Amino acid sequence: MGEQQDEQQDVITVLVTDHREVEQMFSQLEQMAGDASEQAKTLAEKVVIELVRHSVAEEEYLYPAVREHMPGGPELADHEIAEHAEAEETMKRLEALEPADDEFWPTLRSLMQQIRHHVDEEENDLFPRLRLACSGEQLIELGGKVTRAKKMAPTRPHPSAPDTPPGNKLLAPGTGLVDRMRDALSGRGR
Ligand SMILES: [Fe+2]
Repeated sequence: MGEQQDEQQDVITVLVTDHREVEQMFSQLEQMAGDASEQAKTLAEKVVIELVRHSVAEEEYLYPAVREHMPGGPELADHEIAEHAEAEETMKRLEALEPADDEFWPTLRSLMQQIRHHVDEEENDLFPRLRLACSGEQLIELGGKVTRAKKMAPTRPHPSAPDTPPGNKLLAPGTGLVDRMRDALSGRGR
């Protein structure tokens, strides 16, 4: 079944798929640049949700493996985690803005720059080295963990549920989307 297939994917495939999905949303947003519509806000929130989900999964499963198995792993993991924290600061500034605000599009552009740097670094350096340092079996086991971690996302409580309620409750304005996503995903605050 679908779930089992997902869990057979190695961690690099799972994370690269995330990167491509996020890049697709970035391209859409670039085409909307300067647009003050609600649609731009909705898409920006969607990308933030995906990015937090991706970051939490990497922090919980990828970076511990990097630390354990890769030469120079601890330093590399620290570097990536510091960059996640920077991107998260940008996401927190973004969540407080509306597309009509002067800072909305510049902040979104900063976020895109930070994430594209992250993607480039992982795909061109970290992932090839991880592939050398781990067995295929280890990578598939990690892929299963990451896939399951991402499913804990509160936006889709049930596979058949649409993207909207109760997911839209999560998107209520004026409440910290990034923090609530992170809490829900990591079990923090439960
Ligand atoms: Fe990544």
